[in-house]
Amino acid sequence: MGTVITVTSGKGGVGKSTVTANISVGLAEAGKKVVAVDFDIGLRNLDMILGLENRIVYDVIDVMDEKCRLQQALINDKFSKNLYFLPASQTKDKTVLDKEKVKKLVDELKSEFDYVIIDSPAGIESGFEHAILAADRALIVSTPEVSSVRDADRVIGIIDAKSLKAQNGDEVDKHIIINRLKPDLVEKGDMLAIQDVVNILALPLIGVIPDDEHVVSSTNMGEPVIRKSGTKSGDAFKNITQRILGNDVPFVDLSVDKSLIAIFKRWFQ
Ligand SMILES: Nc1ncnc2c1ncn2[C@@H]1O[C@H](COP(=O)(O)OP(=O)(O)OP(=O)(O)O)[C@@H](O)[C@H]1O
Ligand SMILES: [Mg+2]
Repeated sequence: MGTVITVTSGKGGVGKSTVTANISVGLAEAGKKVVAVDFDIGLRNLDMILGLENRIVYDVIDVMDEKCRLQQALINDKFSKNLYFLPASQTKDKTVLDKEKVKKLVDELKSEFDYVIIDSPAGIESGFEHAILAADRALIVSTPEVSSVRDADRVIGIIDAKSLKAQNGDEVDKHIIINRLKPDLVEKGDMLAIQDVVNILALPLIGVIPDDEHVVSSTNMGEPVIRKSGTKSGDAFKNITQRILGNDVPFVDLSVDKSLIAIFKRWFQ
């Protein structure tokens, strides 16, 4: 039986779909059979980040409504043969999902894949509840901003109340990912530091991703940044993948290069 990992956040636009795409590629490249599932009904964009938008025929709602078989809706990645993608539907009506159908679908995916990575919608409405329903693990993405951390905190409480694991007296294994860290702003005291976020959310940290323009260009090209060697964000995603697999890897050094700053300061004094 595979493991279900839900990527979630509370506040929108903090990087859930980016994280989902990159760790899905990372786990597939590590030899695992992976399916990335877009649960952001009506607003799909995981397909674009993975560069698979032109290959969509059926979507997750078609599978749940038995309009097609699961195999017909699954899209195989262009580069990683171990990676599959199940797109969200573009329907505006989010009430088409119900808990029984979600559970049945996730059970079917778990029997076929090592990892089922679910991208959740922003907010804490029914779409979010469906995304976390069958989670074994949750990756809670937050930027180092007060509003994002506060919304992440609310989401953690809901996972603890509404997931099937929680209802069965068990606990979803939860980790924090801090995304879009700007070390120079932290240095100046204008951004929450990593430790501040960890202290507020009181959960273990599984990765820190810097704010990096390579993420934006990769998204536009439909090639997750984890495939771009030599990028700090790509390396950060590789490390998160290793930690998901249970390997102990050091955190990438994101601190501002003090020696360089000192040299510049001397030049301009
Ligand atoms: N580390 C990063 N550095 C720079 N840009 C980033 C980074 N992470 C994400 N972004 C950019 O931020 C935007 C939002 O990212 P993404 O779509 O992954 O967020 P989301 O949480 O899935 O949003 P939504 O809540 O709307 O689903 C995108 O344009 C993405 O390229
Ligand atoms: Mg998204």
